Amino acid sequence: MEQQYRHSLLVRENHDEEAREVFAMDLAGHLAKDVFPGTRTLYKARIEPAFTRQRDRAPTRTEARHALLRQPYYQMWSSLKRTDQEILFDAVGEVVEHQLADITTRSKKPKGRAGGSLTLDPKIKPPRYLTAVDIHCMPGNYTADLGKDDVSAGAIFDRGLFLYGRGGLGPLSDDMGASVCVWLRKAHHKFNPSVILDMGCSIGGNTLPFARTFSKATVHAIDVGAGVLRYGHARSEELGVPIHFSQQDAEHTSFADGSVDLIVSHLLGHETSLSGYRNIMRECHRLLRPGGMMLHTETEWSTETDPFNQSVLDWETHYNAEPFKTKLDTLDSAEVAREAGFSAEKAFVERAPSLRAGTKYYQGRWVIFGAIK
Ligand SMILES: C[S@@+](CC[C@H](N)C(=O)[O-])C[C@H]1O[C@@H](n2cnc3c(N)ncnc32)[C@H](O)[C@@H]1O
Repeated sequence: MEQQYRHSLLVRENHDEEAREVFAMDLAGHLAKDVFPGTRTLYKARIEPAFTRQRDRAPTRTEARHALLRQPYYQMWSSLKRTDQEILFDAVGEVVEHQLADITTRSKKPKGRAGGSLTLDPKIKPPRYLTAVDIHCMPGNYTADLGKDDVSAGAIFDRGLFLYGRGGLGPLSDDMGASVCVWLRKAHHKFNPSVILDMGCSIGGNTLPFARTFSKATVHAIDVGAGVLRYGHARSEELGVPIHFSQQDAEHTSFADGSVDLIVSHLLGHETSLSGYRNIMRECHRLLRPGGMMLHTETEWSTETDPFNQSVLDWETHYNAEPFKTKLDTLDSAEVAREAGFSAEKAFVERAPSLRAGTKYYQGRWVIFGAIK
């Protein structure tokens, strides 16, 4: 496995701390590779035939999940998977907690100067969908803010995301953004944005490829979490990429009408709510100049038709604190965009092949929901 890029803000684990992190990561791999396949066998050999015999039809995704939940083997897999997720974030959270003073000091004096900026607004109130649960068991969620200079949410996200993805997103966890940039260059080679906005940027991992690819553009990145933004700003400065981070709610930003050429987001939609998602689409329509483009990238889910596979995807919704995942998966985003003002003919769904497809991460491609204004 490739190692994470060790920039100066990243936590520095001792031997035991690293062993704990790696244990949680390897257990996730073992559960996926060696334990999970048994749940499919159980479903195909027993649950589906019994259900079909009784009802004369195949189960729906919800019926499949409910039937699986009654099986001890599935309960074991589910319980281990959830526990492992908690162990992983506990392990990372503890290291960050021990080192917070040092990481904070380092974040205040980034090793480089790239010319980006950081604007925080303490009046921003995080939407309820970001505070009601700790999304995917990340302690404190993205919006934890322990004080004036706190970067703990960013530090946990940076290391946690890398381990959670088992390194599949690359040393800088930027594969989504990098892959979308390559796709964009090929599919719309004449499109040359001057102003780019990344919504729900967290620490800006996926903002970096856009700033690098369109090096003449002014790149803005917004999030509601102050801790992720402080960390992201320092990280980008050290990496030599100028990005203007600001604390804003993507549902209602402070940018002027028609002032943006390209709006992107990565893994934002599935962590919102229906009204939040609709507001974000409306905001994209307001912000884009005519001819401007929005690209919202997620993992490939909505094309799944097998009820067993769908029920496994729904596991994330119900047991990994990702409450909007199933809804987004089944939502007609083109209709939401149309309601927001985009014309139906100019909305599209595209796939960007992952630049790391060889690592077999997910299905080797990312799904973009986009529209041109
Ligand atoms: C899964 S993370 C993805 C982070 C980043 N885009 C990436 O790919 O690494 C989702 C991010 O969206 C942010 N977010 C969710 N709803 C938001 C909203 N309404 N306004 C701004 N940020 C939001 C969260 O705080 C979180 O940092």
